Amino acid sequence: MKPLPANQTIVFLCLLPLANGFASRGSRRASPATRQYASADGNGTPRVPQWHLSNDFETFLNQRTIQSFLFLVKSLRDPQTVLWVENFTQPALHSGRSSTYTSHLQSGSSSSQLLSYHGLAAMNVTRFPTWDIYFKELLKQPTVIYTVESESKHIQTYDMEINPGRLCVRMLAVRQQIAQEFARDLDVVATMGGHTLEAYWESLRASRRTPSAADNDRDIVGNYTSGTNLVFLELHPDPTSDYAPSPLRQGNFDLLVLLATQEAVHRVLNDPARQTGVTKVTNDYLCGFYEQRLDTHFTGGQRYHRAADFLAELLEAPPLLRSVSDGNTALLDPTFMAELLLHQREKVAKEWQLLVQAASEVHMEIQRLQLNRLMSVNTEQSGVHEEQPPLS
Ligand SMILES: *[C@@H]1O[C@H](CO)[C@@H](O)[C@H](O)[C@H]1NC(C)=O
Ligand SMILES: *[C@@H]1O[C@H](CO)[C@@H](O)[C@H](O)[C@H]1NC(C)=O
Ligand SMILES: *[C@@H]1O[C@H](CO)[C@@H](O)[C@H](O)[C@H]1NC(C)=O
Repeated sequence: MKPLPANQTIVFLCLLPLANGFASRGSRRASPATRQYASADGNGTPRVPQWHLSNDFETFLNQRTIQSFLFLVKSLRDPQTVLWVENFTQPALHSGRSSTYTSHLQSGSSSSQLLSYHGLAAMNVTRFPTWDIYFKELLKQPTVIYTVESESKHIQTYDMEINPGRLCVRMLAVRQQIAQEFARDLDVVATMGGHTLEAYWESLRASRRTPSAADNDRDIVGNYTSGTNLVFLELHPDPTSDYAPSPLRQGNFDLLVLLATQEAVHRVLNDPARQTGVTKVTNDYLCGFYEQRLDTHFTGGQRYHRAADFLAELLEAPPLLRSVSDGNTALLDPTFMAELLLHQREKVAKEWQLLVQAASEVHMEIQRLQLNRLMSVNTEQSGVHEEQPPLS
């Protein structure tokens, strides 16, 4: 825990942009979904594609936790912690352009790339293969103390401690809150379009004819959500609680819908029962449709309402006649495919709901590790921490 000389604080602030480059909003990208084929067994069994999300749902929950946490910390005017967390996270955001960190500095900005990223798949799953590894690794980081020197003569130089154990506690609290909000939001995702399919399509079409205002958080409360009342996004899920909704709440919801939609597409495409005959022709069509939109709708930091756009574009596609391998001709009806996706999305939402409802339980293991860290730091008086065996 060596205090850094004051002039190194500046160095700390400059390092981060090196890792990611500096890019304007919208050109940052995260890796898209990936596809493999399960090997054919040689009996003429058709190959089943294996699409999967590059960040699974729980990793997505981590991403939104980290982003919300960065937002909170930034609003407390604590740029050191913002940069420390972003450096530790090393988000998998690829900028389209390369650029030097000097432009970042000249802009006078110490803003976080991860914080302004509105997209999926920002976590590097090579670094953190599962959600809990992120927190376990975080707890292995040593406490550091930075000396912050102010340019203003009125404010004295002060030491600032970054204690990963305490960061972990605060981040888990944010994760818990988002999980609680998602438990309710996923109900909405499941029912969006479920009961009133006709009304849903109508409003979806209508909303796309209305030229939308600038892409901002407010838009999602408008007609894009197809008649679903989203005022709840402004409220805390527990009405007896005084807490404000988590920051980035509307962004969380928008991306949750996008991720659930992408997972629904994958499940339809991967379905082993849909690899022959008419269903295969339908799946081939859907696959092409999806691949064409992987970049524009599911990849990188972009606009809101991408899931609604995707479904609306599918609905607007004309029905097609395609010949099937058995010599017959099939009518491909995009409306039917959209319904299939919505039905699948409902199942996905129900499954994910079970995961978020179990969040407080699975957080307990991390909390236990955090306590171990606290105790070992107290007994050894050491900032550098080796992982301890479990207490019990
Ligand atoms: C960023 O993290 C790496 C290890 O992950 C560490 O070696 C480096 O010192 C960190 N940089 C800053 C500025 O904290
Ligand atoms: C993810 O992390 C690994 C190892 O830490 C690194 O080699 C790789 O380049 C990172 N990937 C992305 C997309 O940033
Ligand atoms: C939503 O659509 C209705 C009519 O269908 C319209 O009266 C209302 O102003 C719209 N609201 C927004 C926020 O665009």
